Amino acid sequence: MTAIGSERFTVRSVQPSDAGAWLELRTALWPGSKVKHADDIKRFFDGRAREPLAVVIAITTSGSAIGLVELSIRAYAEGCETDRVAFVEGWYVRPEARGQGVGRALIRSAEQWATRQGCTELGSAAEADNAGSAAAHRAVGFTDAGLVRCFRKDLELSAPNGLHQAD
Ligand SMILES: CC(C)(COP(=O)(O)OP(=O)(O)OC[C@H]1O[C@@H](n2cnc3c(N)ncnc32)[C@H](O)[C@@H]1OP(=O)(O)O)[C@@H](O)C(=O)NCCC(=O)NCCS
Repeated sequence: MTAIGSERFTVRSVQPSDAGAWLELRTALWPGSKVKHADDIKRFFDGRAREPLAVVIAITTSGSAIGLVELSIRAYAEGCETDRVAFVEGWYVRPEARGQGVGRALIRSAEQWATRQGCTELGSAAEADNAGSAAAHRAVGFTDAGLVRCFRKDLELSAPNGLHQAD
């Protein structure tokens, strides 16, 4: 148990009873469809989620959920050398609880989970313009592994027996 302001907090794996708190934290980190987040959470507790594989939550002694880290294992992560990289899919601490060691405790717990999975590298990512996140990553021991620009394209299902361009 670690102190935060006048309160103490602990980090532990999420339990089904944390579903509501997890949903709030997740929506704060990734605003968007709460329905989609709730579905993802249900799939996780049903054992049907490919990602995240593990979620650690930070809770105060009075029971407030103040942060989380969502984890997966990726076959490839930028700048990493192994093909089973434990990966921080999401790392979030409520604004009022920041700067007091909660994020560091979550990453420490993530590292312990990763080593239990046999992983020797922990990867993570942040938006290129998120300087605070970059500084926090470096402060807890990450090193820069490169900047990537991402693309996507909608695909239409092609009709069977359709024409194909000759090479
Ligand atoms: C990144 C985040 C999780 C850090 O949580 P936190 O509880 O404030 O982190 P800690 O208090 O444990 O700080 C850990 C280290 O990072 C440093 N740090 C944290 N935020 C920082 C910032 N904005 N600028 C510079 N350093 C920072 C701390 O000084 C500390 O280093 P120190 O022990 O050497 O002083 C939190 O700021 C957050 O939720 N940000 C918004 C979401 C986000 O960007 N997530 C990451 C990408 S998914």
